[in-house]
Amino acid sequence: MTDVLDTARETTNPTGDANWWRQAAVYQIYPRSFTDSNSDGIGDLPGITQRIPYLQQLGIDAVWLSPFYPSALADGGYDVDDYRDVDPRLGTLDDFDRMVAALHAAGIRLIVDIVPNHSSNRHPWFQEALASSQGSAARARYIFRDGLGPNGAEPPADWTSTFGGPAWEPVGDGQWYLHYFAKEQPDFDWSNREVQDDFLTTLRFWSDRGVDGFRVDVAHGLAKNLPDPLPSQAELDASDKTSGTHPMWDRDEVHDIYAAWREVFNTYDPPRIAVAEAWVEPSRRARYASSGGLGQAFNFDLLEAEFDAEQFRAIITYNLAEAKASGSSTTWVFSNHDVIRHATRYGLPPRAQGEIKKGMAWLLSGGTYPLVDEEAGLRRARAASLLMLGLPGSAYLYQGEELGLPEVADMPPAKRQDPTYFRNPGVDIGRDGCRVPIPWTRGRPSFGFSDHEAHLPQPSRFADYSVEAEERDPRSTLSLYRRALAARHELQSEEELVWVEQVNDAVLHFVRPGEWHVVANFGTIGVPLPDGEVLLASGPVELGVLPGETTVWLRTQA
Ligand code: GLC
Ligand code: CA
Repeated sequence: MTDVLDTARETTNPTGDANWWRQAAVYQIYPRSFTDSNSDGIGDLPGITQRIPYLQQLGIDAVWLSPFYPSALADGGYDVDDYRDVDPRLGTLDDFDRMVAALHAAGIRLIVDIVPNHSSNRHPWFQEALASSQGSAARARYIFRDGLGPNGAEPPADWTSTFGGPAWEPVGDGQWYLHYFAKEQPDFDWSNREVQDDFLTTLRFWSDRGVDGFRVDVAHGLAKNLPDPLPSQAELDASDKTSGTHPMWDRDEVHDIYAAWREVFNTYDPPRIAVAEAWVEPSRRARYASSGGLGQAFNFDLLEAEFDAEQFRAIITYNLAEAKASGSSTTWVFSNHDVIRHATRYGLPPRAQGEIKKGMAWLLSGGTYPLVDEEAGLRRARAASLLMLGLPGSAYLYQGEELGLPEVADMPPAKRQDPTYFRNPGVDIGRDGCRVPIPWTRGRPSFGFSDHEAHLPQPSRFADYSVEAEERDPRSTLSLYRRALAARHELQSEEELVWVEQVNDAVLHFVRPGEWHVVANFGTIGVPLPDGEVLLASGPVELGVLPGETTVWLRTQA
């Protein structure tokens, strides 16, 4: 690694603060659905650059950009053909550089998504593997196994992919390859030196172009130890996922990979940051978040919880303690490109609110509008978001949540794109409903997203959720987020909170340093509002009363 150490890196970062990420508000952009600058119906990088004033006014600290690499879009861009280029439909490397420079000039940092568990089947390495013989070096970069039975006609194991359907795909010569996700996403073999080195090259490539950090896709899946013969799916399901010895998930040696990545990150000033997408036992998250590893890990606990005071409090307490022990800061997230938007989720029956899969199935089984209580959903989402923005740690927001945008459940099947919908017929509604292009104006064809129709259909009610409609309304969700993010900047200090005990179980009240109080009423009946100056409220607050499903920020005199 000396080659990177001896070149002094130039940094274009807004400031050199190495801890900028600890309590940052990070805004996720799903680029194909953000803004289309050239009227082809697909959002692109110049579109993001155009919207920087909006991001600045929103008050976020960083952007997390979902994959923008060349891709056939078998999985929304998480099937990468080339890790060191921009999809021509989204722009060029020059457009990327211009976007980074403009973001930095606006004081906004950039985190890019990196997808190391699998490439796409169009990646030159996978194409080479297909053209090469069994046992070749080209096949060793992926996970190939001989099929069972005569001529290897049967899969090497009965495994199911995460997206549904079989996880092994035949290549026609008796061998099969492993794909945890879609069949267009062959899994890499991370014990392969070339794979390891190539990702270090990729991390340097983007870091040299000025990116401030990486969101690491499926971070818990890279290290695998597949015994011969392979276990059955039932045996895999029964294997312990908490000891670091499961054949595929969350193995201890995955951290050797991240230790090597950390060496690269630390050659930059400030060090590049990383956040792990690791769906692991909460107690094992700290390994990913350690300063010798990726440094931070997503905590999806609130996303998987119901709108419930007791669940929220337990999750907050646990995660703050965990983060403290690991030396990292915690992360909060309610929505992203994989789950039902929280404004809709909180309008579902309680049990479906916290179980994303169940929620998806429920939406599909006729639980469409108006069966979802949209009004309650949005009221609860606003209360939950205002509480979350008051917490210590970093807040990850997903494009459109600042508009209170609902999930689009009622979409013609022919318009859907997500493989999880097609691979689970009648069971999973898929993730397209949270990936619909966001509305900027009230007007058609696509509410200011493009001059063209959007690539996923937008319902007409999106007009009322548009930036144009909301920015004039002081009670809108956009106004709430803008004010909350601005106030958070002023108020955020040490990563601490103290609970104020309540007689009413439906109320959570904590204080942050500086006499900053956050009080959330999860119940439906109003409760007495504690003393203090009301800085912000997620809904109308009457004199002396905190209404149900409402959060307030208060300040008292020290
Ligand atoms: C992650 C991404 C998801 C993608 C999957 C496979 O979970 O967030 O969108 O489908 O990885 O790359
Ligand atoms: Ca475009």
